Amino acid sequence: MESLAKAIASLGPNGARCADAIAAIAEACVSIDRSLRTAPIRGVLGTTGETNVQGEAQQKLDRIADERIVQALAQVSSVAAIGSEERKTLETLHPDGELIVLCDPLDGSSNLDVAGSVGTIFLIQSRRGQGEVREEEALQPGVQALAAGYLLYGTALILTLSVGAAVHAFTYDPEQNRFVHTHKAIRIPDRGGYYSVNEANAPKWLDQMAERLARMKQQTGLGLRYVGAMVADVHRTLLKGGIFLYPPDTKNPNGKLRLMYEAIPMAMLVEAAGGAAYTRTGRILEVQPEALHQRVPVYLGSKSAVEALLD
Ligand code: AHG
Ligand code: MN
Ligand code: MN
Repeated sequence: MESLAKAIASLGPNGARCADAIAAIAEACVSIDRSLRTAPIRGVLGTTGETNVQGEAQQKLDRIADERIVQALAQVSSVAAIGSEERKTLETLHPDGELIVLCDPLDGSSNLDVAGSVGTIFLIQSRRGQGEVREEEALQPGVQALAAGYLLYGTALILTLSVGAAVHAFTYDPEQNRFVHTHKAIRIPDRGGYYSVNEANAPKWLDQMAERLARMKQQTGLGLRYVGAMVADVHRTLLKGGIFLYPPDTKNPNGKLRLMYEAIPMAMLVEAAGGAAYTRTGRILEVQPEALHQRVPVYLGSKSAVEALLD
């Protein structure tokens, strides 16, 4: 993935610092993609029988994806530590490294059994300390992050990223075993697109969200698309416009999505593409994290749609 690293290095102010780590993640994801495509044949669908730190059933592929990414980043000397949705604590890799990587190794895992789209999400932060990495070091607001991105395992394997400037996407070409720069400086359309939410939860939503959504739908006339994998839903929102939301409800008073592994990286991409990304209290990127596995309500997408919902 040398040519991918070279391309990433020139895509923004933090490109040179993050290129090797992102290329390593992308390479791990090529191997995850292969495992996903043959999962029903090789018997790696289903759960491990364990629950992760979030209290959610861990799928075999959640663990496989997590291990592949950690192994890949262990080869990159600039990566001090990795935190993952599937791991309770940060894992120190290189005590002298200058980066912390946070990731959701497999997003949308309820789609695995039905060959639906899933993804991998990552966030890269600058590390200031030295030695064993402490959890507090990773509790940085999103405005300080260096880079964010995701890989979408859909009909194509697509890497979308920002290294502190515009959002770019690369499509994997399996015949040449390389990522090709296919989407340059993505801008989220301000009109059109879709609204994307698990609307079955509407009766349980807090903050008058059912009324707000009804009003937004009437104002914008948007149609509905919901994959149930944030990566796939956000990818569509970035390219086609509209809004993706996961509001708080009586069962999940802080929403379901994780601040460090899902909300911040996606907010960074959406803002860099000219969109808006809010939680209850303001911009997602300005939230001061209090815990690695914390959850937050998420409202992101085209500015006009997000404003129509939250104003
Ligand atoms: P994960 O598979 O990493 O736990 O994430 C699932 C998340 C996210 O991808 C998606 O947007 C959301 O859960 C879907 O939740 P519902 O099934 O409640 O709609
Ligand atoms: Mn997820
Ligand atoms: Mn996950």
